Amino acid sequence: MKTDKSLKRKIQIQNAHAWDIEQDIPWDLGIDVNKDLLPAIGEGHIVPDCTENEALVFSQALGLITAAAIAEHEKILVEMKQNFYYDIIKRYDVCDDFKTLGEMFFQDESKHSQTFNRYIDLYAGQLNVTPDELRSILPIHQRKSIFSFLFKLNSLMGGMAFWWAVFTLEEHSMAIYKFIRPVQNKIDPLYFTIHKLHFEEEVRHASFAQSMINLYRREGSTFLEKILKKMDFGIADAIEKLWIIAQYKRFAKVSKFKDRHPFFQTLTDIIEKINQLPLRQRIGLLKK
Ligand SMILES: [Fe+2]
Ligand SMILES: [Fe+2]
Repeated sequence: MKTDKSLKRKIQIQNAHAWDIEQDIPWDLGIDVNKDLLPAIGEGHIVPDCTENEALVFSQALGLITAAAIAEHEKILVEMKQNFYYDIIKRYDVCDDFKTLGEMFFQDESKHSQTFNRYIDLYAGQLNVTPDELRSILPIHQRKSIFSFLFKLNSLMGGMAFWWAVFTLEEHSMAIYKFIRPVQNKIDPLYFTIHKLHFEEEVRHASFAQSMINLYRREGSTFLEKILKKMDFGIADAIEKLWIIAQYKRFAKVSKFKDRHPFFQTLTDIIEKINQLPLRQRIGLLKK
């Protein structure tokens, strides 16, 4: 692949605007437990007969689930760099600038994952549980899981479902910031700042997942690759839905902490209401 000026320009822009986890995030603000995290979702439109306190706790729980989902996806992305990046680009003729952007992309995601995880750690301190205890009910992505296996299998066959999943995750991450921006005053300021910084960096490097997909679209030429090109998005979507269902089972165990903090008792009450909802609506709660 020939190098191109636009790649050099992207490298310059990303380097010039990259933020620092220590310097650019106001960790000293701490967490305002009276503020929402993802407010509009918890206003009684989805959970039936929601009280004001339940709406607040529900919005905070969804905010934590969202933070954990982003942190886990971006952590697994970095952990599987060999399988889904190095093993793929060696099949194709990519220039040095493309490789530089690739390295920067993974550095960004590692930093984002650490940032969201640090926020979750801080929140655990407010809820009288350890970070590990809080994570035991939040989404998790493991390197050795059926989901990772399915993505690896697709990749070994020449598919790019993994990069479609990354592309979709980045779209969702950016949509979350657009969703909370109009109601900024209702949101915990630290949570809002993290999403704002995340959004900015996602916008700057979002084209990388697209570049990986395009690389394969342009150059993937085996019979199997041609078939997978038409199926990869659907495969990525199906694996992601299975993952979401598995995460809901973790979240549903929240009652084990109901004596530790009123937050968990309220969540337990909400879960009982959610369990009355149809499965499709429950999956919708986690997807949003
Ligand atoms: Fe990210
Ligand atoms: Fe990203």
